[in-house]
Amino acid sequence: MKDLQTIILAAGKGTRMKSSVPKVLHSVCGKPVIQYVLDITKSVGSLKNYVVLGHKADEVATHLPQEAVIVKQNKLLGTADAVRTVESKLKSYRGHVLILCGDTPLLNKVVIRELIRKHKKTNASATVLTTVVHDPQGYGRIIRDESGNMIAIREEKDAAGFEKNIAEINVGVYCFKAQELFKGLKSIQLNTKKKEFYLTDIIELFTDNGQKVAAIETENPEEGLGINSREDLATAEAVIRKRVLQDVMAQGVTVIDPNSTHIGANVKIGQDTVIKPFTVIEEDVKIGSGCTIGPFAHLRPGVRIEDHVEIGNFTEVSRTKIGAKTLVKHFSFLGDATVGKGVNIGAGVVTANYDGVSKNATKIEDNAFIGSDAVLIAPVKVGKKATVGAGSVVTKKANIADNTTVVGSPAKKVEKGNA
Ligand code: UD1
Ligand code: CA
Repeated sequence: MKDLQTIILAAGKGTRMKSSVPKVLHSVCGKPVIQYVLDITKSVGSLKNYVVLGHKADEVATHLPQEAVIVKQNKLLGTADAVRTVESKLKSYRGHVLILCGDTPLLNKVVIRELIRKHKKTNASATVLTTVVHDPQGYGRIIRDESGNMIAIREEKDAAGFEKNIAEINVGVYCFKAQELFKGLKSIQLNTKKKEFYLTDIIELFTDNGQKVAAIETENPEEGLGINSREDLATAEAVIRKRVLQDVMAQGVTVIDPNSTHIGANVKIGQDTVIKPFTVIEEDVKIGSGCTIGPFAHLRPGVRIEDHVEIGNFTEVSRTKIGAKTLVKHFSFLGDATVGKGVNIGAGVVTANYDGVSKNATKIEDNAFIGSDAVLIAPVKVGKKATVGAGSVVTKKANIADNTTVVGSPAKKVEKGNA
């Protein structure tokens, strides 16, 4: 959309997280909170994103994609002031501005699209996303007139007693006509109670001026959850985890027990793969079709698994590629390994990939057979159809030729039939 740009407010301190890590960098299912917000802007077709940073700005900035334009808010003078910092960048821009908060990872792209659509269709100066919550404490309340039109947003501290009972709240997502937004911001006065400039004051200002304001309500209040505490972080994790699992199942994957299965963001799994209980698949993992994973398997970032592979119980795989039809069925560790097709990894096989200084690679070629309890000290290579006997220790830099058999500790070559 040529006529849509986004401002993401993320300068706040996040005091209640009690963390040295800026709150928008805390991760939910392996992905930073703010990345979820950036993903939303992509899916609604925002042309450009301005991210307002303040507290630990430089640290947050290093985690943002290059396309994001960083704008610094030197003093945290409130949400209106935060938006104002972007004004000079949008001087000649005549389109619409979407405003999101950097700490709301659960927003629903369908709802945001609907908000933008309504904003344009009704030709409103501002459109606000609202939701009805059980406990509205702390949120800005949506004030409506007798005909049901939104006329103001009242912040907690300024709300009269009866207004505090209003359960419809401001989620913190807005769409504005850019020029009217920046013009309106100039008239916002400092809120003396909180010593901040409130963006939300702009709604009453617009209404008083006869400018049109619209609201759209989402039925699902969890979408508006802002991450303010570790408890919020855990709530968000549970919601995203459920969404990821639903997505995975919708794509034809059997998840036997969703309650005990953790799948991270950016995971791809092929059809008819079965995920057995108590399995943890971290972010950035790709699994082919027809595989069986678990129970009690742990796949870590960077794992690539081809079709019809079996990963069994108590197996950990990290930064490793596994070829089709390979079996790793019982308590193994494969790290920094490239495993070919049709390989059998026996029970308890370990790639010793870390020598205390660096991580080293293991290569196991097609149809090799690694006996139970073997240790492969990387860097090491096992050739095609080679056999490593049970309990062997294949020492560093060994290069086992195709079709050979090695046994013992350190593993030595034997003639066929003697192993
Ligand atoms: C804000 C809204 C409130 C709404 C709630 C939804 C205002 C005045 N109130 O309240 O109506 O119900 O969000 O969660 O806007 N920020 C900056 N710079 C600042 C201050 C804040 O960038 O100077 C950023 C924060 O990092 C955060 C967002 O703006 O991402 C919202 O600020 P916050 O202080 O959390 O506002 P609330 O009090 O929650
Ligand atoms: Ca907040």
